Amino acid sequence: MSQSPSTLPAGDAIPPHGGTLINRIAPPEQAQELRSKAEHCPILYLDERAQSDLEMIAIGGFSPLTGFMGREDYQAVLETMHLANGLAWSLPVTLPVSSEVAAGLKEGQMIALASSAGKILGLLELTEKFTYDKTYEARQVYRTTDEQHPGVKVLYEQGSVYLAGPVTLLQRDPHPLFPAYQIDPAQSRHLFRERGWRTIVGFQTRNPIHRAHEYIQKCALEIVDGLFLHPLVGATKSDDIPADVRMRCYEVLIEKYYPKERVILAINPASMRYAGPREAIFHALIRKNYGCTHFIVGRDHAGVGNYYGTYDAQHIFDEFQPGELGIIPLKFEHAFYCTVTGTMATAKTSPSQPHQRIHLSGTKVREMLQRGEVPPPEFSRPEVARLLAEAMRERG
Ligand code: ADX
Repeated sequence: MSQSPSTLPAGDAIPPHGGTLINRIAPPEQAQELRSKAEHCPILYLDERAQSDLEMIAIGGFSPLTGFMGREDYQAVLETMHLANGLAWSLPVTLPVSSEVAAGLKEGQMIALASSAGKILGLLELTEKFTYDKTYEARQVYRTTDEQHPGVKVLYEQGSVYLAGPVTLLQRDPHPLFPAYQIDPAQSRHLFRERGWRTIVGFQTRNPIHRAHEYIQKCALEIVDGLFLHPLVGATKSDDIPADVRMRCYEVLIEKYYPKERVILAINPASMRYAGPREAIFHALIRKNYGCTHFIVGRDHAGVGNYYGTYDAQHIFDEFQPGELGIIPLKFEHAFYCTVTGTMATAKTSPSQPHQRIHLSGTKVREMLQRGEVPPPEFSRPEVARLLAEAMRERG
């Protein structure tokens, strides 16, 4: 029988997905030997997403994955949202290359994985290479084949062969911008244990925290021990607010508006796919690996444009068996500023008529900033609004 979070020791309230926290970082005593080996292997230069996938696999954020997916897992994920072994998993984690590059590589070979700048980051033991159907993947993962969709666009532009196999990261470098917030899953689990937290809510974001985010986080904080504020800092669309600006916003916000001892801010190195519902499941499983027991899913989670229904990313959780995902989604309706009560609310708690509501969204904030306007207090805390306006001016 599975234990409920409150009967387990703090910080271990939730096992990693698949039961084992994966660690594919070379032990220091082997790193030098592997590095020398890598120098004699064919080199593959990784784009930003592949680099962050390598990192996420290595630190256990994508547990139980130990490498880039082979055909069997890939097909099972596309068709059933499960890995071939039956474990829930919603997005392919694959390594695309052109057919010319693939033709030069042999199964069984070790391949050095390098950054675009040429630094050797890790090794791939190539177990399989396979072609795939981009249109089918687009339809299954993104629910659209429209190349205007940012995830579909990446898919259509990438190479036509996937390389698969286990990976090893040669060393864990400090994050170049946010070393203090680089908290890997083993460390977050340790921190939760240290703080005595048994229930932890994870929050995914790729935007500066606005008042609606703050509202749903605080509603969640009323019922759990701690908030794991986990902004994604891997690749995002070019019109999303850059991660360094966002991080400053999170810092000022926590400093003034949050009970600091109940919040841990850490970066999520993953890249955005904008896959809406399927990415909501993916985001939840990642936070499970970091040790969260609960995960916030609000309106149009990980969505973009009008590709997904407002609550599709919540409904998809019902496609899994109760308890199967092993993390509890906390689903929130569209939050807004209610001019009748002068508070943040949702339709569940507000007596207002639609015209008495000020709706907020990251997209709206971005648009205001682009017009040179400072978002009003119903949108954003003044400290955050000022930071965003300044950043916009600095960057022209
Ligand atoms: S996301 O792509 O990372 O999901 P964003 O940073 O805007 O985008 O959202 C972070 C989380 O807050 C998501 O769970 C999203 O559904 C939720 N959210 C954003 N805006 C609102 C809102 N106005 N009301 C309720 N939930 C919201």
